[in-house]
Amino acid sequence: MLRIGLIGCGRIGRVHSLSVDRNRKCVLAAVFDPVDEQAKSVAEQFGSEIAGSAEEVFAASNIDAVIIASPTGNHKEHFLGAARAGKPVYGEKPIDNNLQSANEAVKELRRCNVPIMIGFNRRYDRDHAELRAEIKNGAIGRVQTMQLASRGPNSVPSPSYLRGSGGFYRDKCVHFIDLVRWIAGEDPVEIAAMGSVIADASVGEAGDVDTAGIMMRMASGSIAHIDNARRAVYGYDDRIEIFGTAGLIESSRKRRGNVMQIRGESVVLEGLPKDSFARYSESYAAAFDAFIAMLDDRHKEVPTIEDGLMAQAIAEAATISGAESRIVPLKEILATL
Ligand SMILES: NC(=O)c1ccc[n+]([C@@H]2O[C@H](COP(=O)([O-])OP(=O)(O)OC[C@H]3O[C@@H](n4cnc5c(N)ncnc54)[C@H](O)[C@@H]3O)[C@@H](O)[C@H]2O)c1
Repeated sequence: MLRIGLIGCGRIGRVHSLSVDRNRKCVLAAVFDPVDEQAKSVAEQFGSEIAGSAEEVFAASNIDAVIIASPTGNHKEHFLGAARAGKPVYGEKPIDNNLQSANEAVKELRRCNVPIMIGFNRRYDRDHAELRAEIKNGAIGRVQTMQLASRGPNSVPSPSYLRGSGGFYRDKCVHFIDLVRWIAGEDPVEIAAMGSVIADASVGEAGDVDTAGIMMRMASGSIAHIDNARRAVYGYDDRIEIFGTAGLIESSRKRRGNVMQIRGESVVLEGLPKDSFARYSESYAAAFDAFIAMLDDRHKEVPTIEDGLMAQAIAEAATISGAESRIVPLKEILATL
C-alpha cells in the first residue's frame, strides 16, 4: 500500500483526497494545512495523521509520494522540498507564477530525478482522450482549426484567490492551452489574446479579466481558438471541436445526465454540471490513477514538468498579448528562459 501525503486541504486538495481513497493501491497517510480546521476535516474523513509542516511530510520515511495542492504561491517551495527529499510528486499547476522562476525550479527538479506529474486532469477526460486518439490516427486528415470552449461555473473565485492566481490566462486558460498542445502534438508559434471584464466586476477589481479569447497559429499552420469565461450562469461548459481536411471530431459539452422530457412542444434536457469539480470528477481520479501507474512503469505518458512549463510559457504570451494588444511569438517568451 502506497502511503500518500497531501499538502493543502482546500478545494482541490479535497478532490485529490477522494482520488487517493478511490485508488486501491493507496492510503492518505498524512495531511498538512496551516489552517487547522482544513487539515482536520480531511484527516478525520480518511483517518490520516496531521503533520505540523509540509517539511515534516517530505522528511517522513513512511510517506511514499506527495500531492501538492497548496496555493500557487507555495508550489515552488513544495515541489522542490518534496523532490529534494526524494518523494515523487503529483503537483498542481503552475510550478511558479513567475515563468523564469518556474524554469529555474524545473532545472533543479530534473536534477532531483524523481517522478513528477503536473495535474493537467482534463487530459484524462475519456471523451477528450478519444478525440485525441482519433486525431493521432489521422481520422480527420490534417487539422485545420481547433475550437475549444471553457466557460463557468456560475460564480467566480474569491478576490484573494484571484490576486494570487497569476490572472485568467495563467490560472484557468492554461488547462486548455495544455489540451491544445496535447491534442495537436505540437506547439504554437504565435499567440494573440484579448480579454474583457463583462460578467463580474469583482474580477476587474482584482486586476483580471473574466472573458477571453486566445488564438494560436500552430507550427503546422493550423489555427487554434480557445474561448474562455470565468463565469457562465448555466453551469460548467467545456467543449472541443477539431476540424480537418477529412472531417470533424467533437468532444461535446457534458450534461449532468441523459434524462429527456417532452412537455407540450418543448423538449427538456438535463442541464450542465455546476462546476469543474462536478464536470471533471472522473478525470481527477483517472489522473491520480495515472500517477500511481507511472510510479510502477516510468515509461507511461503523463503530463510532465516540461509540459507544465510550456503551457505556462504560452499562457505568459497570452497574458502579454492581452495587455499589449499585439501578437506574441512564442520564441520571444522562450528566449527569456
Ligand atoms: N487542476 C485543477 O482543475 C485545479 C482546480 C482548482 C485549483 N487548482 C490549483 O490548486 C491550487 C489550490 O487551489 P484551491 O482552489 O484548492 O485553493 P484553496 O484556497 O481552496 O485551498 C488552498 C489550501 O491550501 C492551504 N494553504 C495555505 N498555505 C499553505 C501552505 N503554506 N502549505 C500548505 N497548505 C497551505 C489553505 O489553508 C487552503 O486550505 C492552486 O494552485 C490552483 O491553481 C487546480
